[in-house]
Amino acid sequence: MNEDPKPARGLPAGSTDPRDEVICACNRVTAGEILDLMARGTRRLFLIQRETKAATGCGQCKPRLVEFLIQNRGDQKP
Ligand code: FES
Repeated sequence: MNEDPKPARGLPAGSTDPRDEVICACNRVTAGEILDLMARGTRRLFLIQRETKAATGCGQCKPRLVEFLIQNRGDQKP
């Protein structure tokens, strides 16, 4: 039986790796997963959402997801 509580957004306790940052707690999507997708050319918000399900639950993470995409997009729009 899995009684793992919904993880908080942000860095998990004990981690200092920015790739471990949980961007979407509902769907357990980390910064590293998003960066990997972006490195493979998936940079648009709706595509990131489709691939990871980030920001498709409660939606509270959407502002952080958009901010993250803007910070890491290079010269393309999120
Ligand atoms: S925290 Fe991302 S949808 Fe709820």
